[in-house]
Amino acid sequence: MKRVGILLSGRGSNFEAIAQRIDEGKLDAEIAVVVSNIETAPGLRRARERGLDVAFVSSKGLAREAFDQQVVDILHKRRVDLVCLAGFMRLLSPSFIRAFPNRILNIHPSLLPAFPGLQAQRQALEYGVKVSGCTVHFVDEGLDSGPIISQAVVPVLDGDTEESLSARILEQEHQIYSKAIQIVLNGQIRIEGRRAVPIS
Ligand code: GAR
Repeated sequence: MKRVGILLSGRGSNFEAIAQRIDEGKLDAEIAVVVSNIETAPGLRRARERGLDVAFVSSKGLAREAFDQQVVDILHKRRVDLVCLAGFMRLLSPSFIRAFPNRILNIHPSLLPAFPGLQAQRQALEYGVKVSGCTVHFVDEGLDSGPIISQAVVPVLDGDTEESLSARILEQEHQIYSKAIQIVLNGQIRIEGRRAVPIS
């Protein structure tokens, strides 16, 4: 059974969606550990309540490399095959990325390369786009910039607020992340330059 490590900083609804797919037998994997940089993250509490192995790593007073090395050590010790960022609000250092080559995924609440970074849904609303969505991608050294595995599109409605648009996108996030994880764990995809190409 492939072992997934989840990194989160907040609510953890994407983590929960993944855990639920596993419970339902729709995603063939196990969650080896859930790591957070925020001690009070609701996602960390929910992971604990599920009886999962959890770890809090404080970034206080630590250089990025030192923090990342602690997280990498935890993931290595748990023999994690794939690292999934699920609302993990920190950039990973190059050494973290080198420790898991093509083995780190992220979900982002926009149709990348539009609106990378923070508050992607608000950026989309303010820009005035008519559709937005979410993206699962491999993590590279840039900001939300690695090869794209899958995307889902949602309409932006005239009366949308940041909350209503975020909720519509989140529903899709919960659908596409588990599917993308399964594809990667199955080795059904290879990276060619910027493109993640299905292996038929
Ligand atoms: C999600 O919308 C996720 O796409 C976003 O944070 C939220 C976390 O929600 N991630 C990013 O913006 C990363 N750049 P969750 O904690 O309920 O999964």
